[in-house]
Amino acid sequence: MADQYNVAIVGATGLVGQEFLKIAMQRGFPAGELRLLASHRSAGKKITVGERELEVQEATSKSFEGIDIAFFSATTEVSTALVPAAVKAGAIVIDDSSAWRMEENVPLVVPEVNAADLEGHEGIISIPNCPTTPLCQVLWPVHVVNPIKRIIVDTYQSVSGAGASAVNELNEQTRQVLDGHAVSPHVFPHQIAFNVLPQVDVFLGSGYTKEEWKIINETRKIMHEPELAISATAVRVPVYTGHSESVHVEFTRPINVEDFTKLVHAGPGITIQDEAAVNVYPTPRSVAGKDDTYVGRIRQDQSVDSGIAFWLVSDNLRKGAALNAIQIAEELIARKLV
Ligand SMILES: NC(=O)c1ccc[n+]([C@@H]2O[C@H](COP(=O)([O-])OP(=O)(O)OC[C@H]3O[C@@H](n4cnc5c(N)ncnc54)[C@H](OP(=O)(O)O)[C@@H]3O)[C@@H](O)[C@H]2O)c1
Repeated sequence: MADQYNVAIVGATGLVGQEFLKIAMQRGFPAGELRLLASHRSAGKKITVGERELEVQEATSKSFEGIDIAFFSATTEVSTALVPAAVKAGAIVIDDSSAWRMEENVPLVVPEVNAADLEGHEGIISIPNCPTTPLCQVLWPVHVVNPIKRIIVDTYQSVSGAGASAVNELNEQTRQVLDGHAVSPHVFPHQIAFNVLPQVDVFLGSGYTKEEWKIINETRKIMHEPELAISATAVRVPVYTGHSESVHVEFTRPINVEDFTKLVHAGPGITIQDEAAVNVYPTPRSVAGKDDTYVGRIRQDQSVDSGIAFWLVSDNLRKGAALNAIQIAEELIARKLV
């Protein structure tokens, strides 16, 4: 096992890429060379990472010589085009985009749930869509004890989930509305400032959006439950960072709030924040910047025999993206798979 690994970050100038560099420093990730890659627009830009000042290079198919691990966090088009070149050059790819997630030979991994799937990797590992990761993380410790019959999840997704340009759009529109000016949406289909949009990504023929399709099918793949009954409504809210989810789950056997809470609490990387009597529950504001997934509002779902309803919040840039990717790399190193 090497002491250090040469790492390329494709999308190093983006929201997830920047968070990735911050977390890698915080966790002391054993990076030898750090190769920062982005589009031609950023080539030559200097970024300080810890003690090092590094120059961003344009990502091309020739960017991966000598790289052990390549983190892709750019666009689906970039991952589709450049991931094969990175694998061919000998790198293990951890990909944040949706390009490879549903391929049969590509593990889709939340380490707290299915780290064992890494054992069969063939060079590409995908990380799930940002609301899917915390949902699987929280439900898994209960599912292994009392199998899930059905999940209904409604998400409240922050604008940073759509990248830096979406954050700028919320800033700009907020100013325009407060100044009494007209708003012209570019990133989102309608005004996002002071509004809520029941649409994340494009609509599919089924009436679901692509984001909802991802939540449904990625959850099934991660949990190895291809027939799992699950429905989702994904909603964009004018929050900068932190995705919230209202979840209703029906289990095979009856379960009470105390047992559900105990099982979830025992899951790694989960904090319970649930004191209704004193208005304590997680919010995106309180969870942004944190690594854990936070759970509150746990209650019996009175509409079914064996149901629990709860609320979860996670930082979409951290556990929803960069942190999950780094944890996968740490797991690969621990399992001697790099
Ligand atoms: N944001 C989240 O919460 C989240 C969660 C899970 C997964 N993801 C996924 O992570 C990826 C990045 O998201 P983000 O929020 O960081 O987006 P972002 O802030 O818009 O950043 C996009 C990054 O991609 C780079 N890029 C764009 N076109 C490129 C090209 N042709 N060649 C090379 N690099 C290119 C950009 O470089 P320039 O600066 O040079 O344009 C920038 O570094 C997406 O695939 C997204 O679906 C995001």
